[in-house]
Amino acid sequence: MDKSEAMLAVAREAIVGLPTTAGKVTLCHADMRDFILPLREKPRIIAIPFRSILHLLTPEDIEECLRHIHANLAPGGKLIFNIFVPDAEFMAQNHNRLRLRSDYIDPATQRHIILWDLSLYEPTEQRITVYAITDELDDEGIVVRRKYRTLPLRFMYPQETRYLLEKAGFGIAALYGWFDRRPFGPDSREVVWIAERT
Ligand SMILES: C[S@@+](CC[C@H](N)C(=O)[O-])C[C@H]1O[C@@H](n2cnc3c(N)ncnc32)[C@H](O)[C@@H]1O
Repeated sequence: MDKSEAMLAVAREAIVGLPTTAGKVTLCHADMRDFILPLREKPRIIAIPFRSILHLLTPEDIEECLRHIHANLAPGGKLIFNIFVPDAEFMAQNHNRLRLRSDYIDPATQRHIILWDLSLYEPTEQRITVYAITDELDDEGIVVRRKYRTLPLRFMYPQETRYLLEKAGFGIAALYGWFDRRPFGPDSREVVWIAERT
């Protein structure tokens, strides 16, 4: 599921090349805060990969998302998602710093592209605004085009996440500190939540 048709088009193309998923994938254009899955049976697992839940910018939006996941899951079904653990020191050090991310020749246009990013952290709002800046250079290295894109995110703390899950009718089945299932602890940078519809 994605609310972006462009992202679904990327997924549609990727699926074509994967024989194991042929005929087994239903792509769904919907908002995760308000959806009914177009499936005959309710799934036993719903996963939100790649920290995508952080695109929800208010606790109310997260509540709506969890409420719909709860309604769409089979009884006893699991919700699995990963998010990063907010790190105050990291945010303080990286606030408003321009970083070079990539320097490449665009295969479609043969143009020299330089990609930068910069993040603004607002701890009291639990907000991050990521600016992605793309410079297109001519043969002399002069910028002929600059494009800005912004990506707003909201970070979540573990206690808040647990509270919202329990309030939405989930129990915590497991909490991991990484994808290899190591336990979550004070040094964890990522957290994988496995919640169960109770
Ligand atoms: C980090 S990308 C992950 C893309 C892809 N699902 C993957 O795992 O590679 C986050 C995706 O969430 C989508 N998204 C953001 N807000 C959404 C919402 N409210 N409902 C559904 N999709 C949303 C974006 O369009 C974007 O494609």
